[in-house]
Parts: sequence; C-alpha cells; structure tokens
Amino acid sequence: MQIGLIGCGNMARALARGWGRPLLCSDPIAERARSLAAEVGGEALASNAELAARADLLVLCHKPAQLEAVAAEVGSGTTPVASILAVTPLAALRGAYPGRPVYRFIPSLPVEVRQGAVVQAAGPGGLDAGPAGADADSEALDAAVAGLFAELGTLVVLDDALLDVAMGLMSCAPAYVALVAEAQVDAGVRRGIPAAQGAELVVQTLAGTAELLRRRDYDTMAVRREVSSPGGLTARGVDALERAGLRRAFSDALDAVLQERR
Ligand SMILES: NC(=O)c1ccc[n+]([C@@H]2O[C@H](COP(=O)([O-])OP(=O)(O)OC[C@H]3O[C@@H](n4cnc5c(N)ncnc54)[C@H](OP(=O)(O)O)[C@@H]3O)[C@@H](O)[C@H]2O)c1
Repeated sequence: MQIGLIGCGNMARALARGWGRPLLCSDPIAERARSLAAEVGGEALASNAELAARADLLVLCHKPAQLEAVAAEVGSGTTPVASILAVTPLAALRGAYPGRPVYRFIPSLPVEVRQGAVVQAAGPGGLDAGPAGADADSEALDAAVAGLFAELGTLVVLDDALLDVAMGLMSCAPAYVALVAEAQVDAGVRRGIPAAQGAELVVQTLAGTAELLRRRDYDTMAVRREVSSPGGLTARGVDALERAGLRRAFSDALDAVLQERR
C-alpha cells in the first residue's frame, strides 16, 4: 500500500522513520517534503492533488485548522484517508472527505523507533464499517490500515470521544518523561553527580523500567512494591514525591491539555 503523507513536520517525520519504507510526501515547504522523501527513499510531490492521485492511503499530518483547506486541495475521490489530527473527530473527517473510507489515529513520537503507542478511533466508519458497509473489501482495508499503524508500536482501539484524552496521555508523554528525567538528573547534580553520567543512569533506568512494566502486564504497583521495602529508602522517596503533589500535577496537566483544546 503506497502511503502519501500530507504535511511533513515533526510527526510525519516520526511516522516515516518508523515505517522505514518509500513514501510519497507533500508540504507547502517543498524542501521539507524533499528531505523527508530523500531520507526514506520516497518521492516529494508538488501538490496535495498530485499526491492524492498517486497514493493508496492519504495520511493527514498537517495541523487540525488546515482540514478543510487540505481537503479542498485533495479534491474528490475514493482513496482512503487516515488522520492523525488532534481534536478532529471522525465526524469532522467524514464531513471533509465524503465518500472515502476514513480512519482516525493518534500516534506518539516514539513511533519513530517503533516503540510508540498509537490509538485508533473505533466506531461507524472506523474499524467497524466503511461507507460501503462491512463487506469483505472494506474489512480487508480496515485490517490493512490498522496493520500499518500497528507496525509502529502498540495499537489500542478506543471510542472516538476518548481520543483526545488518550492524546493527553501518550502524545504529550515524551515531553513529560523528558522533564521528569531532567528533574531527576538535576537532583543528582545538586548532590554531586556529573550531568552526563546522571542522564545515563536516569534514562537507562527509565527504559529498563518501561520494559519491566511490560513484562509484568503493566502492573505499576507490582514494580513499585519490588523496589519499596517497608520503611525503606524508596518508600521514603515515593512518600516525598506524593507529598509534593506528583499525582495532582499529572492530573492537572491532563486537564490543562484538554481545557486548552476546547
Ligand atoms: N507532534 C505530536 O506529538 C503529535 C502527536 C499526535 C498528533 N499530532 C498531530 O499531528 C499533526 C502534525 O503535528 P506536527 O507536530 O507534526 O506539526 P508540524 O511539525 O507543524 O507539521 C505540520 C506540517 O504540515 C504542513 N502543512 C501546512 N499546510 C499544509 C497543506 N495545505 N498541505 C500539506 N502540508 C501542510 C506544515 O507546513 P507549514 O509549517 O508551512 O505550515 C508542516 O510542515 C497535527 O494535526 C497534530 O495535532 C501531533
């Protein structure tokens, strides 16, 4: 399936690197499309219309506010569309691309290294039924499109109404985790650990902890218990983080993300 990326910014680059195969690319800044196409061995096209004529799947990677303008440039046709646009529900996508199978995904930056989480919107016209109904062809297309995004990491299907909440967890998370790592490194620097070694210790431990959590079925409490002996040092550290409002801070962060988007 020939993928066509409409918009070649940060997330398009991460998707392209994760897929690691030749792609068609378009972007108002021609050099941006050219350099991404060159990196993955694909082809930069001069317009969204040209890309739409050549691709088997249009992947919308522009900003949400550009939905209508890009749809007008793409024009009519039946080529399926997969969107990664935040705050753009399936109904809006179907309105912009009538007569086409439409899919909605939200990725996270680690798709670049195929370790991302990707969330897909379920519901009519998503996984369950294309515009032509759930015949064998549309089911095969649903599976092929979902399979492409599943190459990039763990694919989780949620109701369309929850996709922006999911985005607030996983798409923002690389920034949150980087900030948490930085805070830990700084704490170590304050106690005399050189920043470079502190960063190695913290980041490798983050990566290892993520792998342990996967192996323990994402049971966060199990991992916490393994390092927290009663009355021990880690329990004291965790207590300090709780008293400093760690949980509240993440809850507030999610509220802030969703509030700003309204
Ligand atoms: N970044 C993330 O972590 C993340 C996560 C989940 C979802 N998303 C979604 O992914 C989309 C892209 O985000 P991003 O961070 O990659 O943004 P970005 O870096 O700004 O990339 C968007 C690209 O689309 C281009 N564009 C603008 N108008 C276009 C048009 N008519 N045709 C083709 N391309 C056009 C932009 O060009 P100009 O700069 O010249 O306008 C820019 O190169 C957004 O809808 C966002 O909601 C992002």
